[in-house]
Amino acid sequence: LKIITLGMIKPDSMKKMGEILDLIFKNGFLITKMKKVSLSRNEALEFYQEHQSKMFFNTLIQYITSGPVMAFELMGENAVEKWRNLLGPTDSAEARSEAPYSIRARFGTDKTQNACHGSDSAASAARELEFFFPAGSAGRRNTAV
Ligand code: CMP
Repeated sequence: LKIITLGMIKPDSMKKMGEILDLIFKNGFLITKMKKVSLSRNEALEFYQEHQSKMFFNTLIQYITSGPVMAFELMGENAVEKWRNLLGPTDSAEARSEAPYSIRARFGTDKTQNACHGSDSAASAARELEFFFPAGSAGRRNTAV
């Protein structure tokens, strides 16, 4: 069963994009769409709407709008869970002790600057993919999936 999810390289790890893409391919994913974006404040508020009541929300919005990000659609067996496993725990420090080969252990700094994002469910993946790659956009029409 092939499933798709949304991955995003965050501003702090854009300089490590080559190594991160290499890990993605080595772990058997296909990248079926990819887009470099500088999120506006309003776009960031929309993307992270589920976290709006969290005490770290302002820090998160500030950070994710601090530079360009790379968003991509990942396709593979059990993609949502597999990508979350490759990312490791949200807190990069925790990732270094519990999942030393994970992306956040290798490229993240702390809880905020944690290298990459991954959708937490198939429903989130659908919403987040639609956010970056809206159906009916030129991107979708021109991309073979
Ligand atoms: P992400 O997978 O993009 O989903 C929400 C983000 O909020 C998360 O990664 C972190 O960047 C950030 N985040 C989650 N928990 C905390 C926290 N306790 N303190 C600061 N940032 C957090």
